[in-house]
Amino acid sequence: MKSAFPISYDPTQTESRAPRNASSARTARDSALMKAVCLVALVSGLSALPAQAAAPIENKRAFIAELVGKMTLDEKIGQLRLISIGPEMPIAQLANEITAGRVGGTFNSVNRPHNRLLQDAAMKGRLKIPMFFAYDVIHGHRTTFPIGLGLASSWDMDAIRLMASTAAKEAAGDSVDMTFAPMVDIARDPRWGRTSEGFGEDPYLVSEIAKATVKGFQGTLPVPADRIMASVKHFALYGAVEGGRDYNTVDMSPMRMYNDYLPPYRAAIDAGAGGVMVALNSINGVPATSNTWLMQDLLRKEWGFKGVSVSDHGAIVELMRHGVAKDEREAARLAIKNGIDLSMADSVYLKELPGLVKSGEVSTNDIDKAVTEVLGAKYDMGLFQNPYLRIGVAKDDPADLDAESRLHRAAAREVARKSMVLLENRNSTLPLAKSKTIALVGPLADAPIDMLGSWSAAGNSKNAVTLRTGLNAAVGTQGRVLYARGANITNDEGIVKYLNFLNWDTPEVTQDKRTPAAMIEEAVAAARQSDVIVAAVGEARGMSHESSSRTSLDLPQSQRDLITALKATGKPLVLVLMNGRPLALQREQQEADAILETWYTGMEGGHAIAEVLFGDYNPSGKLPISFPRSVGQIPTYYNHARLGRPFTEGKPGNYTSQYFEEVTGPLYPFGYGLSYTDFALSDVVLSGATMPRGGKIEAAVTVKNMGQRAGETVVQLYIQDVAASVVRPVKELKDFQKVALQPGEEKVLRFAIDESKLKFFNAQLQHVAEPGAFNVQIGLDSQAVKQKSFELQ
Ligand code: BGC
Repeated sequence: MKSAFPISYDPTQTESRAPRNASSARTARDSALMKAVCLVALVSGLSALPAQAAAPIENKRAFIAELVGKMTLDEKIGQLRLISIGPEMPIAQLANEITAGRVGGTFNSVNRPHNRLLQDAAMKGRLKIPMFFAYDVIHGHRTTFPIGLGLASSWDMDAIRLMASTAAKEAAGDSVDMTFAPMVDIARDPRWGRTSEGFGEDPYLVSEIAKATVKGFQGTLPVPADRIMASVKHFALYGAVEGGRDYNTVDMSPMRMYNDYLPPYRAAIDAGAGGVMVALNSINGVPATSNTWLMQDLLRKEWGFKGVSVSDHGAIVELMRHGVAKDEREAARLAIKNGIDLSMADSVYLKELPGLVKSGEVSTNDIDKAVTEVLGAKYDMGLFQNPYLRIGVAKDDPADLDAESRLHRAAAREVARKSMVLLENRNSTLPLAKSKTIALVGPLADAPIDMLGSWSAAGNSKNAVTLRTGLNAAVGTQGRVLYARGANITNDEGIVKYLNFLNWDTPEVTQDKRTPAAMIEEAVAAARQSDVIVAAVGEARGMSHESSSRTSLDLPQSQRDLITALKATGKPLVLVLMNGRPLALQREQQEADAILETWYTGMEGGHAIAEVLFGDYNPSGKLPISFPRSVGQIPTYYNHARLGRPFTEGKPGNYTSQYFEEVTGPLYPFGYGLSYTDFALSDVVLSGATMPRGGKIEAAVTVKNMGQRAGETVVQLYIQDVAASVVRPVKELKDFQKVALQPGEEKVLRFAIDESKLKFFNAQLQHVAEPGAFNVQIGLDSQAVKQKSFELQ
């Protein structure tokens, strides 16, 4: 666990991610920071340097080789050190360390004067090698967009690119050069808290999003001034930790890795991601950080990755805890030999590499390789041409980092609208009429910090629009909103304590001191005076976070009790879910008339949710991950392997693969999501019954809007290999198109199928398309599909 941030100094002006700080302490800290920055500038004899004139650098390889040739061993080792701003060392010491060539980059500072000072320190160094500044820019920067699962629910790559390019622009404006994103770990066990950060369970969808986010964050190489370098994480298989318990071990067959878990990392790298962050977990007995197969054979040799690799936070030292290194010296040796270029948040390289080189256990070549990658990344970030590329000049520094003018609310709202999934809508309960009286209840109805979701690092909850604010704004004077909190997130004080510990300085989960019964009573009274109830329930954002794994997927009991009491009023009940993982909703499915999954919608969430509730926007999101009926059903992913004794609908107890106490299959399948209109799909038409080798066929389908409202839906194409040399999944997503249709409008959608869509990694890990029959399935979710078959010759 990272330590709390020193109170006198906060370069981030953020409140949610390490270092996190209380917004109440913000102003005091801002002035403390500025004092610290000025003081160090005076002591070092530098005021902020003006931006250097751009120096033309044509040949990257020659340039870097020449520079490496001039560096001492200590200077090379210094470049491999990535310092976490704050906890690790005071700013004056840091500036001295930089000038002495003992730091390559920092992360967790998003403040231009601060980073300018550090860059000034680098420019005083012997070789004037620029620093780079990294940050966790995950789903937005100053403007917070929906969390990963929400972004993925949009199935809209333009929207996702918009998030990434907007975040990049804002972060670049805050002097950030690199983000530790995208996070593309496939998650099939929703107990894992980091499920929220990723894009779900499907290799194809997550790969498409990996490409879109890399392009959005980074644009091209070299990275332009208003973009930031992407480093895909966590390489590899972090989402497959056993039991969904964070940091747990991963044991996986190579075939599963290649077919299901590795494609998104590969997609990000092929899209040009400049960096790779290495996972904290072990893989088949070897920690990723010291895993030669992973880092050398696969990443560098097989995939040809040319960028920089970064350890995760403290991961090199953790090699000792994994039990593969007896001391720090051995840990450093294993990591550097394995090609971990940057050591994050520890000084283990700095301490150990000189001795290891001296003894010959590590060669200068090992060091040169790592330093070449680090300098290469700096080159690609454009920093050798201009070390102040994203820092700019002091006169342009923003007076208020969180100023309204720096935000991109329209973009955040647009993406948020698209990120919600309508799970239930009995009796057309939704959309609501604005002229009615609405009882708005629930612990998440007016919780600004939770709107942001986890890893909303530079997001500021004071800028967040809660559902209460959004509903009130939408209703105006036409109707009424009666608010009552109704319940605390949980009545379990132990859990509250844990969540507030997680968030260091700021207790995020605040308990209403009234009794649960009194809170419910107030909510029920509000419900009785209303035409409809909107209950915002789910998880505090810290419940779906790093190190927040759960054993249950139920709503906490405090909220279940509230829902049951609300149901008993007989008023129509709409649940607005805010959560970072699939929940087990069997009970809520029975109790609620409508359920809208909003995940964590980001800064503009309150407005965006109101637009959906009132039908100003027709929901179009589809689940990027299956919802199990209960925690015991995990894993529930749709693209599971075929079995000798599969469960057969309507034939229970016949020695088939099932849990006998519960209905088989997910509560809500992958790809599922309702709309306020209905869409109909025609049968699938294939352009031919056979596909020649190297050829193509086309699958066409007509989709029609059968209802009274305009709407969008996602038409999904799945393929099943009927008989192959190895067991293949029941189906796999291979393509999709999001289409907007007016009432009564229809469109023919065409999908090109070539061999690349039929290929898989066989038992020898060859990427092959095997001849024989394939079923093409097209549907509006992964279960209700129309099917046609063809033969690959
Ligand atoms: C997380 C990474 C993150 C890093 C730096 C680690 O704890 O696992 O995802 O990028 O911290 O903040």
